[in-house]
Amino acid sequence: MSGRLVRCDDRAALDTALAAARAEATPIAFVPTMGALHHGHRALVERAATLAPVVVVSIFVNPTQFDAADDLAAYPRTLDADLDVLADVARTRDVTVVAFVPTVDVIYPDGPAATLHVPDVTDHLCGASRPGHFDGVATVVDALLTAVRPTVLVMGRKDHQQLVVVGRLLTLRGHAVTLDAAPTVRDDDAVAVSSRNTRLDASARTLARRIPRALGDAVHEVRGARATGDPVAADAVVAAARAALTVDGLTVDYLELVDAERIVPLAGPLAPDGEALLAVAVHVRTGADGSVRLIDNVRLGDVADEQRLLDALAAAPTDGPADGSGVPRAPRPRAPQG
Ligand code: PAJ
Repeated sequence: MSGRLVRCDDRAALDTALAAARAEATPIAFVPTMGALHHGHRALVERAATLAPVVVVSIFVNPTQFDAADDLAAYPRTLDADLDVLADVARTRDVTVVAFVPTVDVIYPDGPAATLHVPDVTDHLCGASRPGHFDGVATVVDALLTAVRPTVLVMGRKDHQQLVVVGRLLTLRGHAVTLDAAPTVRDDDAVAVSSRNTRLDASARTLARRIPRALGDAVHEVRGARATGDPVAADAVVAAARAALTVDGLTVDYLELVDAERIVPLAGPLAPDGEALLAVAVHVRTGADGSVRLIDNVRLGDVADEQRLLDALAAAPTDGPADGSGVPRAPRPRAPQG
């Protein structure tokens, strides 16, 4: 029964599709998405296929997590192409992929409303700048988990705070599922892949490249301090990142160094062997009068995550500086890298 795609639009169809796997206690991996699948999503589905022979992918543009009606309306919807991607993963990875494509009524029989709140870890970053957003995320993930009952839940580190919120949700609601975190997938120019990137025009895309560059600049700042054994002030890390974002066309929503598990500002400087999350949200001007809000992050002190980002930046083409609009290069590290 592997190597195929099954589409389910409601819970009865989902139960039928998963009945055999459940009866045999076959592991089920679950990747929740809002569709408009890109290669970041695909990497998650392929990762899920290494974890379980049955992979459920939900495609549901969740109304309760959007804070602006026009953002919800503008969200890209590409169901046919999404199903083609999933069929291709099913075939090439020889797994059963179940596409769960519910309507709003299926997920919210009593009408769309966010009814869950995960406290503490939602006070900062996107929780502060998008009030109610994580209530919507928590509510929909809880409903989806109740419907799918997976063994393992696969989510991306690009949305680090969402990952932490969902981790708390699993405990609060008693969902017996393992949470698997997948690294951020970046395009060739190091910009984190996002469904929202399709709304960037060419000059906005050039501006967006400054976001990973800013994070890379902070990595260099921290690595320099680490090599000398000195703690580094949170302000210095943020300042190192902010320089690349200080340009016409970018408006920083937040740029903060936080405890990666508790999502609160660091109490003191970052110790040489310390870990912290540098998270950024930026409005990128696009078109005549539009803007697109993009998020990104790097886990400072997680050497693998730092290096993935630096490698992506090193492989990215450099922007021509001729008109002065090029992206500034990262400063040289202050000391040799370990
Ligand atoms: P969506 O933005 O479609 O993302 C679905 C999953 O893909 C999330 O776990 C997200 O972190 C991951 N993802 C997106 N871009 C990625 C990238 N460049 N690299 C790695 N992973 C990436 O996140 C949501 O949907 C929704 O909030 C959802 C959890 C489905 C609830 O509605």
